[in-house]
Amino acid sequence: MSSSIKNICCIGAGYVGGPTMAMMAYKCPDLIFNVVDINELRIAEWNNEDLSKLPIFEPGLQKIIAKTRNKNLFFTTQIKEMIESADIIFISVNTPTKQKGLGAGKSSDLKWVEASARQVARFAKGHTIVVEKSTLPVRTAEVIQSILNSSGSNTNKERNSFSVLSNPEFLAEGTAIKDLENPDRVLIGGEDETAMILLSQIYKAWVPESKILFTNIWSSELAKLTSNAFLAQRISSINSISAICEVTGADIREVSRAIGKDTRIGSKFLDSGPGFGGSCFKKDILNLVYLAEYFGLLHVANFWEQVIKINDWHQQRIAKIVVEKLFGTITHKKIIILGFAFKANTNDTRESAAIKICKDLIEEGAELIIHDPKVSPVQIEKELQIKPISENKNDDIFSFKNKEGNWRFSNNLNIFDNAHAVLILTEWEEYKYIDWFNAAQKMQRPAWVFDSRSIVNSELIKKSGINLWRLGDGS
Ligand code: NAD
Ligand code: UGA
Repeated sequence: MSSSIKNICCIGAGYVGGPTMAMMAYKCPDLIFNVVDINELRIAEWNNEDLSKLPIFEPGLQKIIAKTRNKNLFFTTQIKEMIESADIIFISVNTPTKQKGLGAGKSSDLKWVEASARQVARFAKGHTIVVEKSTLPVRTAEVIQSILNSSGSNTNKERNSFSVLSNPEFLAEGTAIKDLENPDRVLIGGEDETAMILLSQIYKAWVPESKILFTNIWSSELAKLTSNAFLAQRISSINSISAICEVTGADIREVSRAIGKDTRIGSKFLDSGPGFGGSCFKKDILNLVYLAEYFGLLHVANFWEQVIKINDWHQQRIAKIVVEKLFGTITHKKIIILGFAFKANTNDTRESAAIKICKDLIEEGAELIIHDPKVSPVQIEKELQIKPISENKNDDIFSFKNKEGNWRFSNNLNIFDNAHAVLILTEWEEYKYIDWFNAAQKMQRPAWVFDSRSIVNSELIKKSGINLWRLGDGS
């Protein structure tokens, strides 16, 4: 094996592959990073000269891309060539929950990982370090290793050898650049010490050595799933307590502050909200549940499954509260939805609480106007699987009747006319500065604001004459 590395390839130009390689390229100007993807459109978007059109929105990303792209960072569909020239290959492809077959609904679908491993086996030359960047079930490294050892063409096999490492990614969307620049830890799991040291050399360009942890490969894979399960468990815990607050007169913000001061508990990840979303928490817990069931640990499986069940229940609870407060019926009532992304500062809508809540409200007959500063109407339509009302510039925005669909998108906040209620689902900064006095003049009476993120100024809302419901506020 060569004692140094020069060319790095990343398979998968998504929310992880793109920002992670951009940060590495920024911190390691002497190394070459090639990010490859089968999705031509995505690669074209990464190469768009207009940096506001990158496929993902992430604060700070444009600046780093501007400094690295076409210098030592390249986005391309030339998968074969980039694998051939790589010393290290990161596999950073999607690993969603399996939809059918054995383990459907719980285990991860590894078809994209398997396809990547086969491509590597086919095209890699010499000794190659293959790094699991995707979040994977425990013992997937074994599967990858066996594909690499057996699937190459005969001539290739003679010349090839591989070391498989696990190097899970812990970035959170919306803060990805900050998280990558200053990670709590970098985890490298493996058996080949030389390969582990070579990989760690990339990170050492900016991460202190004390934060780089070496473990065995199975611990590394399991630590990633466990980390997400613990984080999600905190959210389900605090959301379950928010329901108790509402019926007892307690206030979830005060309870969170009080328990967070205990240094053993800590103050982070204690914000109650509409339920956790995002592409990973649910799928990674389901993965853990599947693993526990597979090994006959049913009590363990049930324990973790409850985290998801509480989250589902909590999301339904919010839609029900809206209906109850609006006199038990929302048919033809205009409800403004503020925020569709699963959290602020991202354009990602995967598993967003807004999907289930909006569907439930539409099912009840409501007419929704959905605003989000970064999510496109096309994306919302894809998630809801319901067409918006037909676009006609001359239409009165509020006359939904006899039109297709029961929602429409707005890219601005001049949307309060005749609305019965506003439901805040994503904590976008701009929602903090809405002029509620002005909105109150335009809304139907009684007007309601439902704040599931605790971001509005409750005193101002009340003074404006609008009724306020805040999650977890029983006071
Ligand atoms: P994503 O869907 O945004 O991106 C995956 C990309 O891989 C897609 O663009 C897809 O076209 C590409 N791809 C699939 N198969 C391919 C192949 N054979 N060859 C080339 N390209 C291929 O997914 P993501 O959000 O970046 O997540 C990737 C992995 O990282 C998942 O395992 C996820 O659990 C994990 N993860 C995600 C986050 C996050 O915040 N999104 C954070 C940490 C870890
Ligand atoms: C999460 C983890 O935080 C990352 O460490 C991990 O790498 C990533 O999953 C992954 O494996 O994909 P992410 O899902 O991007 O990151 O975002 P989070 O900040 O964790 O938020 C997840 C959900 O929990 C969001 O819907 C958010 O609104 C919600 N949340 C978060 C709360 O409701 N309350 C909180 O206090 C924190």
